[in-house]
Amino acid sequence: MGTKVGVIGAGGMLQYHVPGFQQGGGEVIAIADLNETAAQASAEEWAIPQTFTETAEILNSDIEAVSIIVPNKFHAPLAIQALEAGKHVFCEKPPALNAGEVEEMKAAAEKADRTLMFNFNNRARPESQAMMSYIEDGVVGTINSAQSQWIRRTGIPGFGGWFTTKSFSGGGPLIDLLHMVDLSLYFMGYPEPAHVVGQTFNDFITDPGHKGPWGIPDSAEGTNDVEAAAHGFVTFTTGQTLSIRTSWAEMNEREVVSVVFQGTKAGGKVERLFGIDGLDETAIDSCELYVQENGNSVKRSITTEACEDMGRTTSAANFISTLEGNSEPLNTPDEALKLMQIIDALYASADSGAPVSL
Ligand SMILES: NC(=O)c1ccc[n+]([C@@H]2O[C@H](COP(=O)([O-])OP(=O)(O)OC[C@H]3O[C@@H](n4cnc5c(N)ncnc54)[C@H](O)[C@@H]3O)[C@@H](O)[C@H]2O)c1
Repeated sequence: MGTKVGVIGAGGMLQYHVPGFQQGGGEVIAIADLNETAAQASAEEWAIPQTFTETAEILNSDIEAVSIIVPNKFHAPLAIQALEAGKHVFCEKPPALNAGEVEEMKAAAEKADRTLMFNFNNRARPESQAMMSYIEDGVVGTINSAQSQWIRRTGIPGFGGWFTTKSFSGGGPLIDLLHMVDLSLYFMGYPEPAHVVGQTFNDFITDPGHKGPWGIPDSAEGTNDVEAAAHGFVTFTTGQTLSIRTSWAEMNEREVVSVVFQGTKAGGKVERLFGIDGLDETAIDSCELYVQENGNSVKRSITTEACEDMGRTTSAANFISTLEGNSEPLNTPDEALKLMQIIDALYASADSGAPVSL
């Protein structure tokens, strides 16, 4: 029998975690949610035998690993509690509210000698893995510069709920849509950041015309104190650079999710263009390399299998196959820490109006 997994939080990503863990050779045997109805409905839908409303109880059950699918504020405390109880942890993105919390999670994993991974599912997309194989083969050379984008025009995930409340979410799209920053850093070899400068904008953050087609219900008494868009620039001690552009609500043409880079031997792009904001089935994925060959400018278009779920199932499968010794982990706590340091620095730069040195 494979790794026994318990899920904390009956969040939307459960529909990918359950088949992913099964694909990796594990099985989900328990689910906990503060909301008993939510726990029971998910248990029924996914044939999960045990349900709990208390985290402590699921951690005392017969599980070896935990998947955490709750609002961001609870990632660090629940992950640390699970690690201290001797469980391996697969935590939804973002890793936590800030880098300080990720440091505590990393320390807890090291002390307990347990695996801590995060759901940076965009690394598991076929396009990303195909691109990484070219990078690892040396086709691209050194990536000098990259541009990460996850831009939406009408993508606010509800008003006044936890997503738009900084103390619960850590911030707006910069922290919520951090995937393309992570993917850029993955392609670049996760270099050491040196300086970060950036600005955030909160236009439209209470405008119903910019609400996304998903997310959580609006709460009239709630808070909307996060940014609607963030723009920034990062330099690295290696001389590499990264620009960051992300928004839930901004006057963009369409939803674009992309990493574009310029290497010393080739440039490239991994991109998803959404036909309609947030609707995966209308999206067009591409993976391209730009090279000079025999005096010609050549665009190599890499064909990969279709993957509507943006690597979510494969990412969950990788967690289990890593635990079972059959795969290398797709991400590490050190990478999560560096990613959160960059995000913290961009917010700090936006607050102070000055560049931040790391
Ligand atoms: N990887 C991705 O593509 C992706 C996509 C969407 C959401 N997410 C992440 O998933 C997480 C959950 O988002 P969501 O939209 O499903 O949230 P949600 O608000 O729907 O919450 C999920 C569940 O968690 C439960 N919950 C809240 N606090 C809890 C606690 N302390 N203990 C136990 N249960 C608790 C709630 O009752 C709810 O049923 C977030 O961190 C989000 O960033 C990831």
